[in-house]
Amino acid sequence: MAPQAVPDAPGGNVPPAIRASGLVKTFGTLRAVDDVTFELAPGRIYGLLGPNGSGKTTLIRLLAGLTLPTAGWAEVLGTRMPSRQNLERIGYMTQADGVYTALTVAENLRFFGAVFGVDGDEPAAAALAVVDLADRRDSIVGTLSGGQRRRLSLACALIHRPPVLFLDEPTVGVDPLLRVEFWAHFRTLADAGTTIVVSSHVMDEADRCDELLFVRSGRLTARGTGREIRARAGTTDLEQAFLRLGGDVAVTR
Ligand SMILES: Nc1ncnc2c1ncn2[C@@H]1O[C@H](COP(=O)(O)OP(=O)(O)OP(=O)(O)O)[C@@H](O)[C@H]1O
Ligand SMILES: [Mg+2]
Repeated sequence: MAPQAVPDAPGGNVPPAIRASGLVKTFGTLRAVDDVTFELAPGRIYGLLGPNGSGKTTLIRLLAGLTLPTAGWAEVLGTRMPSRQNLERIGYMTQADGVYTALTVAENLRFFGAVFGVDGDEPAAAALAVVDLADRRDSIVGTLSGGQRRRLSLACALIHRPPVLFLDEPTVGVDPLLRVEFWAHFRTLADAGTTIVVSSHVMDEADRCDELLFVRSGRLTARGTGREIRARAGTTDLEQAFLRLGGDVAVTR
C-alpha cells in the first residue's frame, strides 16, 4: 500500500515531517513530557524507547494531536497540531486496542475507512492482507485472541494509507513470525515515504529503526542510530546501551 503523496516544499528542500518544540505535558505536578524538541525527517522509522511511565504514549498523543500540550507545540506535515486537516494524514495505533469488540473485523475496517473517507473494499482487503487476518473478516472482534486484535488495530491504522504513522507498541502479543512481517511492512511503507514513530521495549525491533529516541522521565535523553547509540554507550549490546544511556545524557543532535 503506497501512502498518500505529501507535497515537497518549494525549492526541493524536504521539510521535516514532524516537529516538536519545547513540548510539555503535565498531569498535576507530574511532567509526563518535559521540554521535548526535535525534528523528524520524512520516510524514516523512529524508535521511541524508554522505561514504563517515561512519557512515550503521552508524547505520541501530543504529536498526534489527541491531547493538548501544557506548553510548546507539535507540527505534523507543516501543520500545527491538533489539526482536523491532518486527521486523514495520520495513522495511530494505540497501546490499548482502539477497536470495537461488538463488531466484526470487516465492520471495524469499514468504520475506520468511513471516518477517513476511504472508498471501496480494496483498502480494507489490502490492510487485512498485511496483518494476515483475511480469514477472520466476519468474526466478532470480542472472539479474537489478543494478538489477532492487535493485528486488527494495525489494519485500522493503515487503512487510509496515511503518510505519518504513530505505532504505540504495535507488536505486543503478536507472534514472532508475524512480528517480522510487520517490520518488513513498516520498512516498505517508510521506503515509499511514510514517516513512522514506533514505541517499543523490544531491542531487536529497536535495531530495525533508522533512528532511536530515548525518553526518560519525560525528557529526550539521547538520539541517534543504533550504531551511534552503541558507540556513545561504549557497548555493542543495544540493551546495555539503553540501560547506560537511560540517565541524563546530552542530546547530540
Ligand atoms: N491521563 C493521565 N492522567 C494522569 N497521569 C497520566 C495520564 N496519562 C499518563 N499519565 C502519567 O504520565 C506518565 C507517562 O505515562 P505514559 O503512558 O506516557 O508512559 P509510557 O512511556 O508510554 O509507559 P509504558 O512503557 O508503560 O507504556 C506516567 O507517570 C503516567 O502515570
Ligand atoms: Mg505507553
